[in-house]
Amino acid sequence: MSALTTPRGPVLITGGAGYIGSHAAQLLMERGVETVVFDDLSAGHREAVRGEFVQGDLADTGAIADAIQRFKPVAAMHFAGKCYVGESVTEPGLYYQANVVNSLNLFRELQRAGVRDVVFSSTCATYGQPEVVPIPDDAPLGPITPYGQTKLDVENILASFSRAYGMRHACLRYFNAAGASPDGTLGEVHIPETHLIPLLLEVASGQRDELKIFGQDYPTPDGTCVRDYIHVCDLAQAHLSAISLLQGGVESLTCNLGTGQGFSVLEIVQAAREVTGHPIPVTVVEPREGDPAFLVSGGTRAASVLGWTPQRADLNTIIEDAWRFKRAHPDGYPSSCAESR
Ligand code: UFG
Repeated sequence: MSALTTPRGPVLITGGAGYIGSHAAQLLMERGVETVVFDDLSAGHREAVRGEFVQGDLADTGAIADAIQRFKPVAAMHFAGKCYVGESVTEPGLYYQANVVNSLNLFRELQRAGVRDVVFSSTCATYGQPEVVPIPDDAPLGPITPYGQTKLDVENILASFSRAYGMRHACLRYFNAAGASPDGTLGEVHIPETHLIPLLLEVASGQRDELKIFGQDYPTPDGTCVRDYIHVCDLAQAHLSAISLLQGGVESLTCNLGTGQGFSVLEIVQAAREVTGHPIPVTVVEPREGDPAFLVSGGTRAASVLGWTPQRADLNTIIEDAWRFKRAHPDGYPSSCAESR
């Protein structure tokens, strides 16, 4: 394995004002790495930016080129994109534009400027309905939504750029990102919020009456869907390891990022009740279209290649961290409160 080489210059972080990107930027800064966040703030939050900031849109190639010329990044982490699976089904054009076209714009500008190393936010949605669970890193790919397809398309673009131009990439296929920075300063704020744990915490905060459970007839032990919840700070650490490996000259890699442990929706509800002390009422409604019954990582590459193992995998720790952020920011970041008014 190549030596880990911490980047010796700025890292460009697209989507660095968003949930996972902001945690990655914070970790890099803690490790003494300069960061340049490039974000249009359409979904991100100014208060979540860590490091230099350029407000820009990846549809604008001139803005990307200017940022690269100005800050001279040595590598990039690409988080920017749209992330609502359901919306991607009804508005696929938005997803191909934001996730594929804009990624291509970024990679072409990086390639022109000689920036070789890219870490990309991919997803377990590239596997679609998996044949085998836990899902190994080399499981067959078959996205069942435009969201998953656009992420796979970007992985393929990166593979072509590696072959043609010698760009190196790490495609990190996240399972369910969850939790928040333990210091309570950064966390998950989506508008609208659709994710399970933040919705449960809205109920516990009195902002929502109940949680609607999407189906209880799945072939799982309690009938609700099972997911692999991975702490956002563990994701950030994997990004730092990946960029450091690429900077050290390792070949491109693709791997799953999960804990390998699955929890059902009902288990998450119960854990949220314990952490918050709130009864959190639930009702069972129709299943959500396109939700696989089980999504759990069976990958070993992150451990063997990145030398990464999750440090905050305990479910209560994940929910406690998210709850600490929620109590400190009941309505999200100040700018998100203004947006939602
Ligand atoms: N769920 C409910 N009620 C809700 C919200 C969610 O029962 O109000 C359930 C879902 O059906 C699912 C689980 O809680 O079984 C987790 O749902 P999330 O919406 O929190 O997360 P997803 O598993 O749908 O999506 C996540 C990421 C996507 C990624 C996907 C991979 O958010 O970006 O995993 O399938 F693509």
